[in-house]
Amino acid sequence: MLNIFDDLYQFSAYDPRYDLTCHQYLLLADEPLLVHTGNALHAEGLIPQLKRVLGGRAVRYVFFSHFESDECGGLPLILKHFPGARPVCSEVSSRELAGFGITDEFLVKRPWERLVAGGFELEFFAFPSEVHLRDGLIGYEARRGILFCGDLIFRSGRAHGAVIEADWQDVADRIEQAPDKEKWKELKKNLLRLRPRFVATGHGPCLKITG
Ligand SMILES: [Fe+2]
Ligand SMILES: [Fe+2]
Repeated sequence: MLNIFDDLYQFSAYDPRYDLTCHQYLLLADEPLLVHTGNALHAEGLIPQLKRVLGGRAVRYVFFSHFESDECGGLPLILKHFPGARPVCSEVSSRELAGFGITDEFLVKRPWERLVAGGFELEFFAFPSEVHLRDGLIGYEARRGILFCGDLIFRSGRAHGAVIEADWQDVADRIEQAPDKEKWKELKKNLLRLRPRFVATGHGPCLKITG
């Protein structure tokens, strides 16, 4: 666990099967926000670290960008330890999780909607990352300028605590993951409207935006 930026904490689990580090984040705001849970195994390691940083407080919201094990596989365990926590996700994720019988207590967000809570303000953008290329979400915390980009910016290898400096236009120009060209154009346009100070990646080094 690492205080990686402002009041943002990073937790990471390395998966040697994929040579991939999976990050989870806690924004220690008045209403604490967890971003991604890791998979079920990661979450077992995450819980005690989370509790240490929270110091008796509880996770209030759990935002995850799309329905995949490293993003939300640990949700049942998180909800067991923090029963008042509210999952925040896309409509597709909410249906998938309900379909697996995990929970049906969601705060469903659509692109361009916001979550204004105690001490943070999260704006949502479409990222075609859900099953059958439907829209998942990336989240931009507007008060601090933190972009939670999920798998959009992705690098393998060990990366706990790694932060590299980057120019935002260069970053946007290099992102080529979205397979649907129109959706990608739209996403890039939306990203370039933002002026993030920090990009909290799902995998690989975080980015400190310098220009
Ligand atoms: Fe993913
Ligand atoms: Fe991921």
